[in-house]
Amino acid sequence: MNQFGVYGMGVMGQSIAKNIANHGYSVSVFDRFFDVVQKYQSTIEKGQAIQGFTQVEDFVASLESPRRILLMITAGKPVDIVIEQLLPYLKKDDIIIDGGNSYYKDTIRREQYCKDQGIHFFGCGISGGEYGALVGPSMMPGGDEKMYEYIQPVFDDICAKAKDGKPCCTYIGKDGSGHFVKMVHNGIEYSDIELICEAYQLLKAAGFDNKEISTIFHHWQQGELNCYLLGIAAKILLVKDEASREDLIDCILDTAGQKGTGKWTSQEGLDMGVPLPTIAESVFARCVSALKEERIQASRILKVELPIAIDKEELLEILPKALYSAKIIAYAQGFSLMHHASKEYNWNLQLQNIASIWRGGCIIQARFLQDITSAYTSAPDTVNLMVSPFFAKILLANDSALRKVINLAVNNGIAIPGLMSSLNYFDSYRQSRLPANLLQALRDFFGAHTYQRVDRPVDEFFHTDWETITKDFYQ
Ligand code: 6PG
Repeated sequence: MNQFGVYGMGVMGQSIAKNIANHGYSVSVFDRFFDVVQKYQSTIEKGQAIQGFTQVEDFVASLESPRRILLMITAGKPVDIVIEQLLPYLKKDDIIIDGGNSYYKDTIRREQYCKDQGIHFFGCGISGGEYGALVGPSMMPGGDEKMYEYIQPVFDDICAKAKDGKPCCTYIGKDGSGHFVKMVHNGIEYSDIELICEAYQLLKAAGFDNKEISTIFHHWQQGELNCYLLGIAAKILLVKDEASREDLIDCILDTAGQKGTGKWTSQEGLDMGVPLPTIAESVFARCVSALKEERIQASRILKVELPIAIDKEELLEILPKALYSAKIIAYAQGFSLMHHASKEYNWNLQLQNIASIWRGGCIIQARFLQDITSAYTSAPDTVNLMVSPFFAKILLANDSALRKVINLAVNNGIAIPGLMSSLNYFDSYRQSRLPANLLQALRDFFGAHTYQRVDRPVDEFFHTDWETITKDFYQ
């Protein structure tokens, strides 16, 4: 009998099955296409105990109890279909783990559905792409904590390890919490990517070429900005197009794709009333980039004559500081969403542990995640990362750099939605008084929506008959 099952032999499934086998476990793999399984079996190396199946009944029967089956399939309806396909062959206390980018509310539904049939269902965020799946991803499992003991040994073996040797996998919480945290990871990923692209745009506008920008990124990679995405950006900028020998980056169409996880994160922020401006602006930046034909037309009409005047030396001084502040502010938004969701869903999310498992294996892995881990370890109830002492100090020290970069971009007509929304979030969050008093008065004037008063208890609401009072004003 094999110890672990992997259902779905796409690139991720194939990689993670080999990772599991490479750690000494006997693995059953399933795919409905015979040729896929056959081709995969031809890649199995000596010592990898991997057995291929194309019949679900045989696949399930090949696994020891309690069965542990990791689904590596496309999110959405396919997960429900495969659950129905497996259930007839499973026994009480068997475990299904969905390792895809499933929507957390679907996971909550599926966990309950399976529980009603005596089967345990986990939603596990897995980050790190195909390579990460093979050598060690960051893993975010959510489900029944009592059953996690059957999963933890395997996941702790196969996940990435941080520099201190700790596994980049931890039990996240019940039902959909694991997929929720993965969704937030991806929302932060969108921000990280957007901010790096804005830095690239500014450096290009200043006159640096791709090789120079690569060198600049590689230099930044040695310091506090160190992260996986900046490292691969530095490499990408050096790659030549095979045919033309031009820089490949200059041959790539500037219209972004998106599978939807950043959008989901933004939608959750709106649903929960948690401001995520940098994450949302990163989604919208992708949408604007996709309006290629419209932008070409608009570029011929909306010609704004602005002198591109960017001092290279000054930019090299202020841009990394601005980028680091915006990065901190974007992560603060993502963590504030998890802080809020933890209360709303009673997940008891341990933010220090989530930051800790993001230190390696995942797409947003970054050196400063150690600082985020430390910040939440020393103050687990931190409501917003921006006000933790370590990060507040950095944000205040880099404040003028962020404002200078934004002014420079604005004066040169360069779009920087990520940087700009980060500063706006910072500036609004740190104000003890915002202009929402006038907002409330306007709502009460036209809609009698009432308002509270600064000099009365917050549970008292007031309405003013503005129409009558103001009918003679400005006559
Ligand atoms: C990861 C990645 C992975 C996927 C992205 C792509 O954590 O390994 O985030 O989940 O590559 O979701 O998302 P977009 O297509 O939306 O950029």
